[in-house]
Amino acid sequence: MHQDLAEVLLDEETIAERVDQLAKQLAARLDDVATREEPIVMLPVLTGSLVFTADLIRRLPHKLRLDVVTVSSYPGTATSSTGAAIHSPLPEDLDGRHVVVVDDIFDTGRTMELLDGELRAAGASGVTSVVLLAKPARHEVELRPDLVGFEIPDAFVVGYGLDYDGLYRNLPCIGTLRPELIR
Ligand code: IMP
Ligand code: MG
Repeated sequence: MHQDLAEVLLDEETIAERVDQLAKQLAARLDDVATREEPIVMLPVLTGSLVFTADLIRRLPHKLRLDVVTVSSYPGTATSSTGAAIHSPLPEDLDGRHVVVVDDIFDTGRTMELLDGELRAAGASGVTSVVLLAKPARHEVELRPDLVGFEIPDAFVVGYGLDYDGLYRNLPCIGTLRPELIR
């Protein structure tokens, strides 16, 4: 798999250190919420944020519920966004709960914007967004994530949960693919 990468942007150790910091920052924000409300709902956006979420939640000390949501914006081999659509029911029982949306990457921002609106409409008392990566050059919405691990240039990346055509999610690092592999 590694041989398919053109460049490694973030190695395993760099990611782990940053996830540690993000977890501390998130925990500090949630301290306040956790004392006055029902358990926090962690909501990873499938499938790309699975690896990040697994690392993140084990560093949080709070009582939390783990639900998932499926949003697609990159069907098949496409590497540019075609808009976002929610493909699963939102978790039940969101009324008065604080929801932490976890995503692998904030690209156009359409996924996060859509979820933020839907979750608030479903009665969430607050929404905190955490993304491992952001591509500032491609943002198309006014909303910005609350916590961002790394800002990266406008390049298609894979690894640590992120895929190209369903592959490379299990790479421990994050990098760009060799151009001849992108259809
Ligand atoms: P957005 O709605 O444009 O912000 O797109 C967010 C979603 O697009 C992410 O959850 C990813 O699933 C996907 N995505 C965006 N950029 C990349 C990338 O460089 N590699 C893999 N997936 C990406
Ligand atoms: Mg996604």
